[in-house]
Amino acid sequence: ALPRDLHGLRVVVSAGGTREPLDPVRYLGNRSSGKQGYALARVAAQRGAEVVLVAAHTAALPEPAGVDLRHVSTALEMRDAVLEAAQAADVVVMAAAVADFRPAARVEHKIKKSEDRPDPEISLVRNPDILAELVENRKPDQVVVGFAAETGDEQGSVLDHARAKLRRKGCDLLVVNAVGDGRAFEVEDNAGWLLAADGTERAIPLGSKAQLAATVWDAVSEYGKR
Ligand code: PMT
Repeated sequence: ALPRDLHGLRVVVSAGGTREPLDPVRYLGNRSSGKQGYALARVAAQRGAEVVLVAAHTAALPEPAGVDLRHVSTALEMRDAVLEAAQAADVVVMAAAVADFRPAARVEHKIKKSEDRPDPEISLVRNPDILAELVENRKPDQVVVGFAAETGDEQGSVLDHARAKLRRKGCDLLVVNAVGDGRAFEVEDNAGWLLAADGTERAIPLGSKAQLAATVWDAVSEYGKR
């Protein structure tokens, strides 16, 4: 049995990928399966926390026992659900893959091909940054944890991008996943780094998403004690 060391802690976890509708049958989405967010919720509940899980679209996953599961679809719905639940939370963990952009207009009818009109172009508008809003509205002693799915590029390594994101977003802890080449999204295992606002960094070795979740909750409890 796991230690009940999170007893009394109220946590909110987001999971899965948002879907941004284009027309009644199409959407912009992403590859998040929700496995990492569900593992965070399950492990927290097993360790005694009171858990609200805000889930966007996921693979077919078993519902974690003892968790208050709330389903959403779009980034805007996730924002409302997460900000509402955060008001009574000690910890908020944003493991969801939230779309940065949504189609500027939602077309009422299915977009059709046409010989006499040009092919459609999709224009996008920015979604609110939920993590940034959580940080802005953070209650005293509330711990806000972000995730970052990063790829290295000419501008810098995965860690360079993640350090910049931690500073920009202002969260307490940032879990960094290197993605691409079949990593992190959809698969059973995950690895990465855990960066804290005080500059502490540690590598998380490849292991199950439940193991990564345990490492995150250990770090959250340590962080809360300082
Ligand atoms: O679901 P799985 O298949 O198990 O995969 C897990 C995962 C790879 C999706 C997960 O581990 C992960 O990395 N989630 C965050 C993915 C992501 O969208 O990262 P980002 O760098 O785009 O966003 C950074 C942070 O801001 C995240 O905490 C995200 O939830 C949050 N965000 C992003 C955009 C937005 N509009 N609002 C947000 O709050």
